[in-house]
Amino acid sequence: MSAPVRVGVVGFGYWGPNLVRNLDKLGDAELVVACDLSEENLAKLKALYPYVETTSDLDVMLYDYDLDAVVVATSAPSHYAIATKVIAAGKHCFVEKPLTLKSSESEALVLAADAAGVTLMVGHLMEYHSAIDWIKDYLASGELGDVLYLYMQRLNLGKVRTEENAFWSLAPHDVSIVLYLLGETPDYVSANGAAYITPGVHDTVFANLHFPSGRMANIHVSWLDPHKTRKLTVVGTKKMLVFDDMQATEKIWIYDRGVGAPDAALAYGEDLSLRFGEIKVPWIPMKEPLAFEVQHFLDCSRSGETPRSDGRDGLRVVRVLEAVDESMEAGGSPVETSVGV
Ligand SMILES: NC(=O)c1ccc[n+]([C@@H]2O[C@H](COP(=O)([O-])OP(=O)(O)OC[C@H]3O[C@@H](n4cnc5c(N)ncnc54)[C@H](O)[C@@H]3O)[C@@H](O)[C@H]2O)c1
Repeated sequence: MSAPVRVGVVGFGYWGPNLVRNLDKLGDAELVVACDLSEENLAKLKALYPYVETTSDLDVMLYDYDLDAVVVATSAPSHYAIATKVIAAGKHCFVEKPLTLKSSESEALVLAADAAGVTLMVGHLMEYHSAIDWIKDYLASGELGDVLYLYMQRLNLGKVRTEENAFWSLAPHDVSIVLYLLGETPDYVSANGAAYITPGVHDTVFANLHFPSGRMANIHVSWLDPHKTRKLTVVGTKKMLVFDDMQATEKIWIYDRGVGAPDAALAYGEDLSLRFGEIKVPWIPMKEPLAFEVQHFLDCSRSGETPRSDGRDGLRVVRVLEAVDESMEAGGSPVETSVGV
């Protein structure tokens, strides 16, 4: 059996503890050291994991502990600077979503990781969700027919942030799901949003992604909604699918419904027939997406295999997020999403 991957974690705020919990319980990783600028947060970590070293100096973490890999769970504006240092130190690097706040920075990280020969992975958690995997296989099976369009809602009251808007905070999940499921990158986006809570920081956004195949995806995110909603609807030529991540067990519903040419025997003055068939709720064994994601990072760090959510995936998502901002600033005008790298 190979030795555990020696890991350091930067950032133990709201989300970092979830990554640390998973790293700690996976026998495959040795959580060696944690770094945070907040002494209070380091004290919280030390209380839970007394055997993990702590420091507020990133260079000490990178050069004094003989690490193989580093997990970055700081707030988004610091991702680029920290990941740049991690890669320059020759460590495999996991960065929470969004990869960076500018596509030029994501590009630079992708190229730096290539040059250094280290793994760069971004925390697009939903790509490691059992239900999303199930949907991807289901779409590939052809049962749903061709995907016509899909839409997603990620809504709740809070958590209100000021360093990034609701689209950058919530929609990396939805954008990564859409790109993963459709296997294509949008050619342009158009979006409208509003900043009702903090001036200049959009808390409610409606974005349309248009794909070269002609398919459409709509993403609605908000920090100002009465209900916590995590929903995806996919409409195909044969069937329709709804994924409701707020349900504990019955997360996916498949509707054998659609619109087609009239059945001559049954049609009664209709130009088109509406088809209402059975509804299926498949049983999907669930495992914690974060455990799967963290294990995948460890596996790729060890094998050199390209992660499912690699740096290029992070870059594609950041380009969409950037284009959405640009479109909102232009009053909803279509904005092309560049390709390359
Ligand atoms: N995958 C998910 O579902 C999910 C959920 C929530 C947050 N996140 C992501 O996790 C990241 C962290 O979010 P959060 O809500 O935990 O933020 P947070 O502000 O609660 O915590 C960030 C922590 O990083 C520390 N920090 C900031 N800059 C630092 C630096 N330069 N060096 C060392 N430590 C530094 C802060 O002191 C703080 O403890 C973000 O990228 C966010 O988008 C992901």
